[in-house]
Amino acid sequence: VSSELAFAQRLSETPKSAAEREAILANPGFGDHFTDHTAVVDYKVDAQGEGGWFDARIEPYGPIALDPAACVLHYGQEIFEGLKAYRHADGSVWTFRPEANAARLNRSAQRLALPQLPEQTFLDAITSLVQADQQWVPSGDGESLYLRPFMIATEAFLGVRAAREVSFRVIASPAGNYFGGELKPVSIWISRSYARAGRGGTGAAKCGGNYAASLLPQLEAEAHGCKQVLFLDQENDNAIEELGGMNVFFVFKDGSLVTPALSGSILEGVTRSSVLQLGRDRGLNVQERKITLDEWRSGVASGEITEIFACGTAAVITPIGLLKDENEEIGSAEAQAGEVTMSIREELLGIQTGTVPDKHGWLRRL
Ligand code: COI
Repeated sequence: VSSELAFAQRLSETPKSAAEREAILANPGFGDHFTDHTAVVDYKVDAQGEGGWFDARIEPYGPIALDPAACVLHYGQEIFEGLKAYRHADGSVWTFRPEANAARLNRSAQRLALPQLPEQTFLDAITSLVQADQQWVPSGDGESLYLRPFMIATEAFLGVRAAREVSFRVIASPAGNYFGGELKPVSIWISRSYARAGRGGTGAAKCGGNYAASLLPQLEAEAHGCKQVLFLDQENDNAIEELGGMNVFFVFKDGSLVTPALSGSILEGVTRSSVLQLGRDRGLNVQERKITLDEWRSGVASGEITEIFACGTAAVITPIGLLKDENEEIGSAEAQAGEVTMSIREELLGIQTGTVPDKHGWLRRL
C-alpha cells in the first residue's frame, strides 16, 4: 500500500459566501454546519486479492452516491474518528495528536474487518482538507474546527463478509461547546437496562454501531433532564465504563485522579490519555483501575471524591454535577465546576490553542 498518495484538488465552484460563513462561525454550535470540501480516498481489493488505496482527492462537500446494496447500509461496517483544528493567536492552524487518531482508526478497522489506512494518508487527508477550508477554523474562545474522519464499506454485496470496496473520508464542522451554551456541570443518567458493550464486543472500537446502541438509553437520559448516559458493567459489580460519547474521571481529596481501566469495552480516548499525562505532570496519583458505582456513591457521600468530569474530543473536559436514576441522586445539579477539573481543562485548551507550552509535542501544524 502506497503511503504517498497525493491529494488531487477539485475545489468547490459554489463555496459558501464569506457572509454565510461568518454567520455560521459567529455561533457554530456543534455538528450542525459543514465546510465547503471533503477529503476522500477509495480502496479496492483487486482480482489477485491485493488491496490498495487510490484516488486521494479533495472535492466539494456534498451527498455521497452509494449503491443501495452497499455493505455499510446493511451491516454497519463504519468506523470514525474525532479530532480538532485550532487557530492560534498568530493565525496559524494546528491539530492535536493526530497520530493517535490514525492509530486508533486502524485498531477500529481491524476489529470491524476494514482495511488499514497508512498513517501518512490519514495525516495528509486532514492537512489537505484543512488547507482547503482554512477560513472555516474559528478563533473564538473554546472554538475549533471539528474533523470527522470515517471509513465505510461501499461494496454492493449482501453476503455478510469483509468488504472489498471501502471509502475513507474526512468532513469538517466548526464547533463550539458540545453541550451548547456556556460550560456548566452536566447531569448524567445511569443506564440500568442497557449495556454499551460486552466482553469480546466492539466497545473499544470507534464504530457507529456503539453510538447507535447508546441512543435509546440517551433518550431515557434526556427524558430525565440528563445530558449523557452512564454505562456500567453490570456483570462486574457495576464497574463504571463510560458515558454515551465520552470517558469519565474522578478527582479524590487525597490527590488521586482515577479513570476506569481499559477493559476491552471502553474507548481509549485521546483526551483521556492526555488528561492522564497532565495529571502525572502535576504530581497527582494517577490511577487507571476498576471503580464501581458503589465507590462513586460512597465517595461523594463521604467527601472522598471531590470532583467528577467527562472528557472527549467533542466534550473537551466537562464537569459532572449530578448522577441519577429512578431511585437515587448522587451529587447535585447545582454543583460548581471543580478546581482541578477546570485547571486541567484550561491547561489542555491552552496547549491546543497555543497559549500553554506544548511540552509533550502533541501539536502538529496544518
Ligand atoms: C468525540 O468526542 O470526538 C466523539 O467522537 C464523541 C461524540 C460524542 C461526538
